[in-house]
Amino acid sequence: MSKESLTVTDNRTGKIYELPIEDGTVRSMDLRQIKTDAEDFGLMGYDPAFMNTASCRSAVTYIDGDKGILRYRGYPVDQLAESASFLEVAYLLINGELPDPGQLAKWEDDITHHTFVHENIRSFVNGFRYDAHPMGMLVATVGALSTFYPNAKEVHETENRRLQMIRLIAKMPTLAAWSYRHSQGRPFVYPDNGMSYSENFLSMVKRVAEPRYKAHPDIVRALDVLFILHADHEQNCSTNVMRSIGSSMADPYVAVAGAAAALYGPLHGGANEAVLRMLKQIGSKDKVADFVKAVKDGSAGQRLMGFGHRVYKNHDPRSRVIKHLADRVFNIIGKRNPLLDVAHELERIALEDEYFVSRKLYPNVDFYSGLIYEALEIPVEMYTVMFAIPRTVGWLAQWEEMLLDKEQKIARPRQIFTGYDERPFKPMAGR
Ligand code: CMC
Repeated sequence: MSKESLTVTDNRTGKIYELPIEDGTVRSMDLRQIKTDAEDFGLMGYDPAFMNTASCRSAVTYIDGDKGILRYRGYPVDQLAESASFLEVAYLLINGELPDPGQLAKWEDDITHHTFVHENIRSFVNGFRYDAHPMGMLVATVGALSTFYPNAKEVHETENRRLQMIRLIAKMPTLAAWSYRHSQGRPFVYPDNGMSYSENFLSMVKRVAEPRYKAHPDIVRALDVLFILHADHEQNCSTNVMRSIGSSMADPYVAVAGAAAALYGPLHGGANEAVLRMLKQIGSKDKVADFVKAVKDGSAGQRLMGFGHRVYKNHDPRSRVIKHLADRVFNIIGKRNPLLDVAHELERIALEDEYFVSRKLYPNVDFYSGLIYEALEIPVEMYTVMFAIPRTVGWLAQWEEMLLDKEQKIARPRQIFTGYDERPFKPMAGR
């Protein structure tokens, strides 16, 4: 029987160390004992961008990037997308188990009854310039909620913490829809407590003068599925930010604002917006091959947006569901987006091209989601906002897990210092 340990010889000193291996990892802190002499700080791991460092233990989401597996609390995401509602999945991610009918009814009721925001938020949103990006507005307004709930700082009080989590899940669609309405110069639509989560969001985005906005039930379902697929994705950039901010015991509103800011970047949640801009730039199917060539030789000045993933080295399972969903939505709407042909062609060419094949670059979740949003006549600036709404659930599940994890402390990485050694101050006259 082999031993679960790693034997390390320090060739500087000739000393041998045995480091325990647990769950396929060695603890970086076990390296600290490896020193050249008593003055030595001890060995550290160097891992910019966390390429090979586990920062936590987590039971929320499982990804096997090589096999293209994504599970929330053990349930395959495609099965959840097929059969569950978004709020059911939200309950699962937060609580660890699927709700029974009574638990789901109470959860839906709780979320529904926290969708309204303080009236001052209305003035706050109105304070933005007419052309403010909705994502910038969302980041700012969700952070501003912190000032409306000062007791949200009591992050160790279970009941209080749960209340803030419900508030955040409930209010994100309201903030998201209002940032959109502001950017369109349209009056804000208040939440409708008689509607489901996704239907209510569509109503707040789309209602004009009709007494009650009526969305096609299949479109509501499509949005629910998109929300399910975006709900969590283990330790990605924004979740890492959420945990990191939360580790200083900041309240969840400012932590979500920080996580949403991380999501905004084009390499993360901002990619869905970038994909659509790229497809529009390509314009038609016959221009795809030239574009792919330009991406490879660098003359396109950009990567193939919506392709590649730090973890998936196989198909992103979410992209498959979304691809079918896109076809369904276009059938319901009755008009096919010509950019879908450009996307299909891009996927076809890239999946056969040696550059993409050898680097294992497959379409990711963002490749087709923008096309669905466009079909729903949601403007491109809103795409990352649409991602932030459901991801709030994942951020909160991971944040609470971090708070309850006895091993976690304030996040504080080390560095390799590359600056000057001490040098004397130079007076102005001598510079
Ligand atoms: N187009 C062209 N080349 C690419 C792409 C791409 N989309 N992605 C990676 N590469 C190349 C990259 O140039 C590098 O090549 P080489 O080895 O010759 O230098 C190789 O593939 C490995 O890339 P990397 O940058 O080391 O990979 P990473 O794991 O650091 O980056 C990524 C992952 C998602 C940031 C990257 O694939 C990318 O920029 N994709 C486009 C943006 C995108 O679609 N982001 C959404 C990700 S999914 C949703 C989310 O996370 O929010």
